[in-house]
Amino acid sequence: MTALPLGRATPAPLAAPPAAEPVALLQLSGDTADAASAVYREVRRGRRVVAVVAGGDRAVRRLAETLDAIGAPTVTPAAGEALLHDGVTLAPGPDVASSRPVEDRVAPLRVALAGCGVVGGGLLPRLLADHRFEVVGVLVRDPGKARDTALPRHLRVTDPAALLAREPDVLVEVLSDASTGLALTRAALSRGIDVVSANKQAIGGDLAALTALAVSGGARLLYSASVGGGAPLIETVRRARRHGEIVRIEAVLNGTCNFILNRLADGMAFDTAVAAAQAAGFAEADPSADLDGLDAAAKLAILAHEAADWRLPVDAVARAALSGAAGLPSGRARQVARLDLETRRAGVTFEAVDGDPLFADLADEGNALRVTTADGRLFTVRGRGAGRVPTAESVWADLGDLRDVAC
Ligand SMILES: NC(=O)c1ccc[n+]([C@@H]2O[C@H](COP(=O)([O-])OP(=O)(O)OC[C@H]3O[C@@H](n4cnc5c(N)ncnc54)[C@H](OP(=O)(O)O)[C@@H]3O)[C@@H](O)[C@H]2O)c1
Repeated sequence: MTALPLGRATPAPLAAPPAAEPVALLQLSGDTADAASAVYREVRRGRRVVAVVAGGDRAVRRLAETLDAIGAPTVTPAAGEALLHDGVTLAPGPDVASSRPVEDRVAPLRVALAGCGVVGGGLLPRLLADHRFEVVGVLVRDPGKARDTALPRHLRVTDPAALLAREPDVLVEVLSDASTGLALTRAALSRGIDVVSANKQAIGGDLAALTALAVSGGARLLYSASVGGGAPLIETVRRARRHGEIVRIEAVLNGTCNFILNRLADGMAFDTAVAAAQAAGFAEADPSADLDGLDAAAKLAILAHEAADWRLPVDAVARAALSGAAGLPSGRARQVARLDLETRRAGVTFEAVDGDPLFADLADEGNALRVTTADGRLFTVRGRGAGRVPTAESVWADLGDLRDVAC
């Protein structure tokens, strides 16, 4: 596939993606996972995408379905209609040879995967099938557990030190345990091993310190999936910051609360709604981090770092808890996370958002964010904030960014 970002001749380097929101023209060889990833990576760079897809209308339809699952909805214009729309436009085009020519000649990136649950289990088959990567080990808690993803015996590791002893180039940290994830991330960075993390509770505690550790260790730390899953919230904050001083961030960051609030609005009892969220894979067995706002607070700490190098302790975020319909504002209620960069206040509250189209009609797993800069410009984004497919895709895009720099 070929990417022709208009107004930019070279691919964006890791630290300085484009300041404007140009258009990317992609010529894709079909409806493959690679094609969807190529589109997604342009979307998260803030670009509108026009993709010409080989394989006719069927390939376009299948690619549109894959992108929808990731959280990047598409437009397929009718014949004669303009090609350039907001978001992603797909159009059928001529066959092109599938290409990974340059990358295929470099050594595979050695990947240590920490975690093989919802997110790790989505990544592992893709890593194993792609010869640009070599999986050197997979850290789990219970090596004998039945999984929905085949985990080869020789890759199973239960000791974090043994995982790093396999000498990876990159650690993909998708554990559900904050302290183990943080210790592993620190150990990797201090040894010069790059880290891609989705673990907001691990990295949200002190991202500035981890970033400094990465710099001193000569490693890179990427964590797009830690806030917003597949929705490029961190990238949007970075883009706004390149535009000018950020004064305010408002966001819906927690899918479990969305799910429960949507059910409460339909008249479901609170306990039933929590049980339904657990059954649907949104809420964990202990949903307290979601309901008490701790999950959103950790994400706010990461966004504060991105917005202004603000070292916001998670416990300094004022939090309201969701414990039932009583106490919720009337109308369409959402858990809204806010950062005020001028007063340095951070909070997670439940608010009526009926008049706010960005937040009001969010689906269960939908996340959304609005950034306001000092000159009044608004940067907004919506997407799928949770789930295997979008979250794994976001981690995959971080791995792609690492590889682009390594090549
Ligand atoms: N799921 C999402 O939609 C989503 C979205 C964005 C970010 N995230 C973040 O991504 C991370 C992974 O989420 P998930 O949904 O994939 O979690 P999960 O399904 O619960 O899987 C967690 C994995 O971590 C392993 N693990 C936990 N503690 C461990 C320990 N002390 N030592 C070794 N292995 C350990 C588990 O091992 P066993 O399999 O043996 O139990 C499991 O494989 C979390 O930090 C989460 O916040 C998730």
